[in-house]
Formats: sequence, C-alpha cells, structure tokens
Amino acid sequence: MRGIRVLGVALLLGAALSACGKKGSDALTIGFSQVGSESGWRAAETRMAKTAAEQRGVTLKISDAQQKQENQIKAIRSFIAQGVDGIFLAPVVSTGWDQVLGEARDAKIPVILLDRAIETSDPDLVFSAVRSDTVLEGKVAGDWLIKEVAGKPCNVVELQGTVGSSPAINRRKGFVDTLGTAPNLKIVRTQSADFTRSKAKEVMESFIKAEPAGSICAVYAHNDDMMIGAIQAIKEAGLKPGKDVLTISIDGVPDIFKAMEDGEANATVELTPDMAGPALDLLVDYKKNGTQPPKLVQTKSTLFLPDTAAQEYQKRKDIY
Ligand code: AHR
Repeated sequence: MRGIRVLGVALLLGAALSACGKKGSDALTIGFSQVGSESGWRAAETRMAKTAAEQRGVTLKISDAQQKQENQIKAIRSFIAQGVDGIFLAPVVSTGWDQVLGEARDAKIPVILLDRAIETSDPDLVFSAVRSDTVLEGKVAGDWLIKEVAGKPCNVVELQGTVGSSPAINRRKGFVDTLGTAPNLKIVRTQSADFTRSKAKEVMESFIKAEPAGSICAVYAHNDDMMIGAIQAIKEAGLKPGKDVLTISIDGVPDIFKAMEDGEANATVELTPDMAGPALDLLVDYKKNGTQPPKLVQTKSTLFLPDTAAQEYQKRKDIY
C-alpha cells in the first residue's frame, strides 16, 4: 500500500514539474520595439519575428516606432511597466539609449538588440545582440565594385541609410575605406535617403541633375529598397540601370533579384531578416536553463549576383 502511495506522489510531482517547465517556456512574453516599416526587409523581419514566436509558444508584443526614437523609448517603458520577460530592440539610431536601458536592467528585464548596434559606455546594459557586421557589408560592396570596374575611372554616388543609425554609419565606413585602395573610383555625391524607396528616387533624381550627363558610373545604396527607388530615377532619366549605371546594395530582398533578372541591377549583399528566431532561442535557453548567451550572434554577409537571381527570388518571395 505504502509503495503505491509513494509512486502516486512521485507521478503527481513529476506532472507538476513538467507542466511547470513547459508552462515556464510557453508563458514567456517579449516586448519588441521595432523601428517601423521603412523597407521590405524591415517588414520581413517583423513577419518572421511573429512566426518565430508562435513556433516557440512565446507571446510577442510588437510596437512600431515609425522611425522615431522617442516612440521606441516610450514602448520600452511600457514593456517594463507590463513586466515582460524580455525586450527586443531594433534601435533606429545608435545613441541615446543608456537611460531607458538602465531602467530595464533595474527591472531585471534582459534586452536583446536586433539588426542594429548602439553606442554605450555600459555594455552590460545589453544582454545579447543578433546582427550582421555592417562594416563588412560595406567592404563586400566596395570590393565587388572595384573588381567590376577593373581599374577604369568611375564616379560613384551613395544613398545612405537613416542618419545616425549604425548600418548607415558602418556601411559607409566599410565602403569608403575599401574604395580608398582604388584611386580610379571616386564618390562624387552622398546623401541619406532614410532607407526608403520614395526618398531614394528623389535623391537619385537630384544626383542625376547635379552631375554632368552620363558621368555617374555606379550607385551604392545602403539597402535594396533605396536601390529600387534609384533604379526608377535612372530609367526615367533615359539611362539603363545595371548597364550605364552599375548598382550595388544590401539586404537581398526579392525585388532586387527581380531587377537582376531584368538586367537592371548587378549585385546585392544579403542580410537575413530572421533576427528574432536566434534571439528567442537564446532567451528561452536562459530563462529555462540559466544559459548565459554570447554578447553577439553575428549573421552572414553573402554577395549575390545575377547568375543566381532566379532561384534566389524563388527562395525569398514567400518570406517577404
Ligand atoms: O538595420 C538593417 C537595415 O534597416 C536594413 O538594411 C534596411 O532595409 C532597414 O531599414
């Protein structure tokens, strides 16, 4: 009799623990302060974050800051007040975060940065980060252009991302440093177009008007969406993008592969939009098992050219 009682208690205890363990990971609630929806890549990152959370049984609350830092700070404070288990932050700009991230740390809520970096004197404000090496992306772009022009003189125009954002700062740095090794290449115009198609079309139109006819040999855009806008402006000026004006950009969105198939774009450096998946995994592992994550999970920066555009388009068209 006693044996049956002990076995019964053990079974009940086991069930309670496993329910608690399962419930523990399923009950996680994460607040995600998202930049906005400025590009196709950003929209894909948001979509993939929702899917990744559902697959892991995590509740994900997403706040769209419409590219305004004050909205992100408000969202983080709201997540803290709600007592979320973790905060994801894709920081629209790289400075001005110490105060609010200090409040998150005081509330013992881990913060994980997605796809962008911040400047801080206190690196312990950030639990972990998932992002690419944005300086390397600019270097890969510059290396491709140097090889493509093969020593011929080439005047380049640059469409920068959001002023003060880490990808804009670093993609410019990587590109400029790399072009410094090739005296035949010269950046004749550079301006921010805020990572958007519409602004990039306007800025490219102004570059074309300002520069001597036919003198622009290449355009470097910090993301594919701005390149799509620039391609429109190049065509409206009666020039052939991909031929009269070479194109190199970053993200690897489906539309840039479409443009490559149409002979209107030359190269892109891929940035995976799946940043939230790895971030969720390291947070669940920490919450369930106490596993300390690395400070950085770095994603790849692979160059893609027209020879594989058709299959790359097919691979991406359903996740964007
Ligand atoms: O931070 C990543 C950048 O932000 C992407 O390259 C761009 O499309 C988005 O706006």
